Amino acid sequence: MTRSSSVLKRELFSGNEVTIRNADFMLRTAIYPGSFDPVTNGHIDIIERGFKLFDRIIVAILHNPAKKYLFSVDERMTLLRESLKKYPDIEIEAFDGLLVDYAVQKNAQAILRGMRAVSDFEYEFQMALMNRRLNRNVQTVFLMTGLRWIFTSSSIIKEAACFGGNINGMVPPAVNQKLKEKFGR
Ligand code: COA
Repeated sequence: MTRSSSVLKRELFSGNEVTIRNADFMLRTAIYPGSFDPVTNGHIDIIERGFKLFDRIIVAILHNPAKKYLFSVDERMTLLRESLKKYPDIEIEAFDGLLVDYAVQKNAQAILRGMRAVSDFEYEFQMALMNRRLNRNVQTVFLMTGLRWIFTSSSIIKEAACFGGNINGMVPPAVNQKLKEKFGR
């Protein structure tokens, strides 16, 4: 049987001698889902914040039927891997299906989402409530993005890059390079 970290903490603080084996521990796992077309420094900021709260973070490339993508899933995966190489414990996967089903499959308790500005609220609220309706056991956790990234999005960065705009510092170097190749700049 697995013990949650809070039960384990209670036992430790009550002075009980507790032997911790890996199998005893229930890892707090969060899925950070998105299109990542491509990953930006704003996403990296949320991943880093989330990694301080959760034991395990799985970055998941999922499909948003409302979007047309510039990069293939393989390209997005490669760019995420390259951009997160200093965090080898962060897992990166792709999934085609319902986000809550994926969360169950990965034993995740939470979906991590970043909130940039009030304009994100309605869409995020709608998605979080739908996901809760689909599965009440998976909680959505919102983290406020760093102020520097409040105006960024993958689309706006792609648009700037397409016209030769300088996007240094807004995306990881590998993404910057790949965007230059895509747009022949
Ligand atoms: N910093 C900078 N930009 C950020 C950001 C941050 N912290 N967080 C989000 N963004 C941007 C993204 O770049 C993206 O910009 P874009 O629209 O210009 O591409 C935008 O905010 C939102 O993108 P993202 O977080 O990637 O979400 P999405 O809307 O593309 O995808 C899914 C949402 C994939 C998670 C959702 O469609 C999904 O769960 N699909 C699976 C099917 C499913 O279960 N559907 C039911 C859900 S109700």
